Amino acid sequence: MNNGRSFKIHLLPNDITFLCYEKQTILESALKAGIELPHGCTKGGCGVCKIRVKGRVDFGRVSKVMLTDQEKENGFCLSCRAIPLEDIEISLIDGSHAKVVRYDEFYSFLLKTRTNL
Ligand code: FES
Repeated sequence: MNNGRSFKIHLLPNDITFLCYEKQTILESALKAGIELPHGCTKGGCGVCKIRVKGRVDFGRVSKVMLTDQEKENGFCLSCRAIPLEDIEISLIDGSHAKVVRYDEFYSFLLKTRTNL
C-alpha cells in the first residue's frame, strides 16, 4: 500500500480515471490499473509509448529524438518516463480507446486454467 501523494489520471476517450502514486510513471500506474497503454523499451528510447497529455508532468529522461522539446510544448509525453505533477488527462495519439484488461476476466481465466490442470 502506498501512503504517499497521488494524482488522478483521466483516460480519454475511455473515460476511466485511475490513480498514479508518487514517483510512479503514467505507464506503471496504467498497467497496475489494468489498462494496456502501448509501450516498448520502457526506458524513454523507442517512442512507442508517446501519448497526449493535458496537465503538468515531469517528462523524465527521454531521447530528444523520440520526444522533442516542441512535442513537449504541444502536449505530448512518453508515458514510460512521465510522472504527473497534478491531476492530468491523457489519450492515445490516434485518439482510439486503450485496451482495458478487466481483473474479473483475468481471474476468471486463471480459475479456468487451474481447473484444467
Ligand atoms: S516504451 Fe520506449 S520510450 Fe516509452
